[in-house]
Amino acid sequence: MQDLSMKLQEIAKLPPDRPMSMPGAFYTSQNRFEHEVATVLNSGWHCLGRQDEIPNSGDFFTANLFNEPLLIVRQAEGDIGVLANVCRHRGMPLAEGRGNVHRFVCSYHAWAYDLDGSLIRSARMKNAGFDSKNCYLHNYNVQLWNGFIYVNLRLDAPQFNFPKLNTLLANYKPESFRIVHIAEEVWNTNWKCLVENFMEGYHLSVVHPETLHGYTPTGLARKLLSENGYTSYAANYPKNIPTRGYGASGLTEDERLRSTLFALFPTQVASLAASLLVSLSIFPISAGQIRVKWTMSTYGKDLSEETIADRIALWEEVNREDREKLERMQIGLASKHALSGPLAEDDYEGTVRDFQLWLATQDRKHS
Ligand code: FES
Ligand SMILES: [Fe+2]
Repeated sequence: MQDLSMKLQEIAKLPPDRPMSMPGAFYTSQNRFEHEVATVLNSGWHCLGRQDEIPNSGDFFTANLFNEPLLIVRQAEGDIGVLANVCRHRGMPLAEGRGNVHRFVCSYHAWAYDLDGSLIRSARMKNAGFDSKNCYLHNYNVQLWNGFIYVNLRLDAPQFNFPKLNTLLANYKPESFRIVHIAEEVWNTNWKCLVENFMEGYHLSVVHPETLHGYTPTGLARKLLSENGYTSYAANYPKNIPTRGYGASGLTEDERLRSTLFALFPTQVASLAASLLVSLSIFPISAGQIRVKWTMSTYGKDLSEETIADRIALWEEVNREDREKLERMQIGLASKHALSGPLAEDDYEGTVRDFQLWLATQDRKHS
């Protein structure tokens, strides 16, 4: 593990025109994974989904972040809260899946909690040691950004702020996109492999010849902005391609003719186009397994029901293609011959290097 931390620092110091990948153990070692949970993952901001998944008071959905069960809820005043999904009596999770409630009632001994986490009912609790005011659900650190919901498990973590990324995305009006599809899957891959895979254009034409190559061929991939905390690239469309929806009125022609892919480290990757927003939230389970929640949102009334159904089917296929590659690669990465290898130039794999640089900074900060 110590070796991998040293290797990460070494790789981060390589000149930008000589980038290298990390060796296989970086992605397969359970020790490394536990180190990451305790450091970079535990201190990171994680996207849980879209705000319009829970439009009405009492709407909720659940998630699990490194064994912490979470309850994401629209509260009475319209705020969004992320609560510990753990009863303060004897630890039962309070809710499962998604739904709408007036209050959360524990299935074990019927303690009831308000939408803000305060305990409002606890039958027959007469012991002197009991005070309902001390038995509220833990409230996590929440940030809302561009229509997404983020949580940080640390209460002292400062909110993130990326003005340049905001500017890059602003014309698309990402906060106005409306959700049309939510799906969750378990993939046998390392969490970092999916971040890297989603964010590099080098594989597009090879892995997605039928699904993506026509619109976003590898040859047109161009690196965009990156800073400490995120990276981005443009998957440009060929000039003669028919438009895929007009999107927001302020979009430039260039913005309309590309998908803007961005990663908010550590666990969100997304693709934003004029009329379509696809976002993947990665919930790491172990070194070799993740839960992926992906959402699709569309802009205004740009796309017909039929087109939306086609886009969902297309993305299901794209995800299947990526998943198959990543699950196969996880086997190769476990080999002692999975050595550090040379990366392609900035436009194709510069985003992988950006991720390495960020991971190296985080590792220095927390070690
Ligand atoms: S564990 Fe929830 S009421 Fe007992
Ligand atoms: Fe892909």
